[in-house]
Amino acid sequence: MSEQVTAFAPASIGNLAVGFDMLGLALEGVGDRVSACRTEVPGITIRSVFGLDGKPHPYLSTDSNHNTASIAAKALWNDYGDGGGVEISVYKGVPLQSGMGSSAASAVAATVAVNALLGTPLPAEALLSYALAGEKYASGSLHADNVAPSLLGGMIFCPPVLLPEVVRLPVPQGVSAVLIHPELQVNTAQARRKLAKAYSMEQWLSQQAYFGGFIAACASSDIELIGKTLKDVIIEPQRSSAVACFDAVKEAAERSGALGFSLSGSGPSLFALCESKIAARVAMAMQQACRGFGIDCQSYVSSMAAPGAHILE
Ligand code: HSE
Repeated sequence: MSEQVTAFAPASIGNLAVGFDMLGLALEGVGDRVSACRTEVPGITIRSVFGLDGKPHPYLSTDSNHNTASIAAKALWNDYGDGGGVEISVYKGVPLQSGMGSSAASAVAATVAVNALLGTPLPAEALLSYALAGEKYASGSLHADNVAPSLLGGMIFCPPVLLPEVVRLPVPQGVSAVLIHPELQVNTAQARRKLAKAYSMEQWLSQQAYFGGFIAACASSDIELIGKTLKDVIIEPQRSSAVACFDAVKEAAERSGALGFSLSGSGPSLFALCESKIAARVAMAMQQACRGFGIDCQSYVSSMAAPGAHILE
């Protein structure tokens, strides 16, 4: 019998305003953990799923066919397992339906934990497709903008048309991400179904310019250009009304000096990028605006080079 291993996988910001479904950023200091150990029962089984309060999770299933973590782990074990069994326990650190890549973090942590039990573990990049199998179950579509940064860390370009190939992008010096999670829930699969299917040439050209400009600005740490390009003119206008405090928090972020602001994934979490030296001030302003609206929230400040999933010693 092999030892128990525990993997941590961070939360993440999907889309990062400019790149719907194709750009994501890992967040430091918040994520899910999955422990895995060998068992006599063949295949992947779930021992327990714990919520943020450390108690058995009230909603997430321990049926291995209906949990994003076990579905991802099964996909890997089916290809590389030795025919024996692995039992996993999931410890949620990322709130559900928060826009912080909760399902992706569970899928990634499970994949990384089970990978560590293989005779010859795969390199991290090779785990992407397996983690995506879990994410697809949860969100109903194949997008990697939470899974890829959670797995690999930092800022990752991961357009669906290139998967499983992804590209690590350079992050700007001296810029931090600030995220607040208003205590609301948005179901990503439902939010995706509501999106318009057709867009104008003008919207498309603007968003392409913002995407390209933002990537170039990050590579050269051009703070001013980040401020001009961190914009979403296509998806944000369709989704922002689902987060009641959106306008108030955006105004507060901009007033306190943020370079840009948008929804994290499909929301309700909201993020800003700002110079690291004012990140605490921006976080405070965003929190105050959200609470002033009568909605409680948690805030996180993160480097843009947060580490990806890893085994905890
Ligand atoms: N790109 C996905 C969406 C991510 O916005 O629907 C959700 O976290």
